[in-house]
Amino acid sequence: MQNIKRIAGEIARASVPIVVVHGAGSFGHPQAKKYHIQQNPGTEGLVKTHRAVLELNTVFVEALQKEGFAATGIHPLDCLLAKRSVVKRWGVEIIERMVDFGVTPVIHGDVVMDTANGISVISGDQILTYLAKKLDVAVIGAGTAVDGVLDENGRTIPCITPSNFKEVSDYIRGSTDDDVTGGMRGKVLELLKLAESGIESVIFNADLSNMVFKFLSGEDICATRISGAK
Ligand SMILES: Nc1ncnc2c1ncn2[C@@H]1O[C@H](COP(=O)(O)OP(=O)(O)O)[C@@H](O)[C@H]1O
Ligand SMILES: [Mg+2]
Repeated sequence: MQNIKRIAGEIARASVPIVVVHGAGSFGHPQAKKYHIQQNPGTEGLVKTHRAVLELNTVFVEALQKEGFAATGIHPLDCLLAKRSVVKRWGVEIIERMVDFGVTPVIHGDVVMDTANGISVISGDQILTYLAKKLDVAVIGAGTAVDGVLDENGRTIPCITPSNFKEVSDYIRGSTDDDVTGGMRGKVLELLKLAESGIESVIFNADLSNMVFKFLSGEDICATRISGAK
């Protein structure tokens, strides 16, 4: 929670228009796992998982409001339709208009209605890549709790592209935390798809003080760039 407040402060200091997307962390993944949302979706799992992630969203929204942002939560369950765990339909014009109007949307990974599976989990990583394709954004950053994507010696891989992915793929794995959306591997695969459509992104450590500020200010940071370059 302290981290969220710090990050909200750093976003304010950078003073740039922003769309915030966050994952569920310990708010949502344990519930999605407990209720077997992916294998055996039911209403109790939907309600409990959604509620957990809403709590986290409220913390983020309030932290940004305290920093002076007109922040408001956007909840995928209410507006996004998936098919087989992939975003199928989502009218993002509302988000564009909010940003133009000076509002800061704070969107999150969520359990959503799914035309094939009943319900499914859509990760913050999927939300990020979907929006990156639809909105006109200058930079895309994925803040996580490690120094980007690490190699077998724990060193940050500076750049991952479709052509070097095979070389590094073996040591990009899931998460050691409760995570139902693929951990670092899920993140990199999502961002590689985005890179293939020509949109670069950066994975950096948002757990370290000042990193979000530096990223938003265009400063050089230790991070992994996900690029479509051959
Ligand atoms: N090669 C790797 N480099 C960095 N993290 C990795 C790697 N392989 C697996 N991981 C795991 O993935 C985690 C990051 O994914 P995740 O927990 O889903 O983060 P987030 O909550 O930011 O989505 C790391 O904390 C680490 O446990
Ligand atoms: Mg994750």
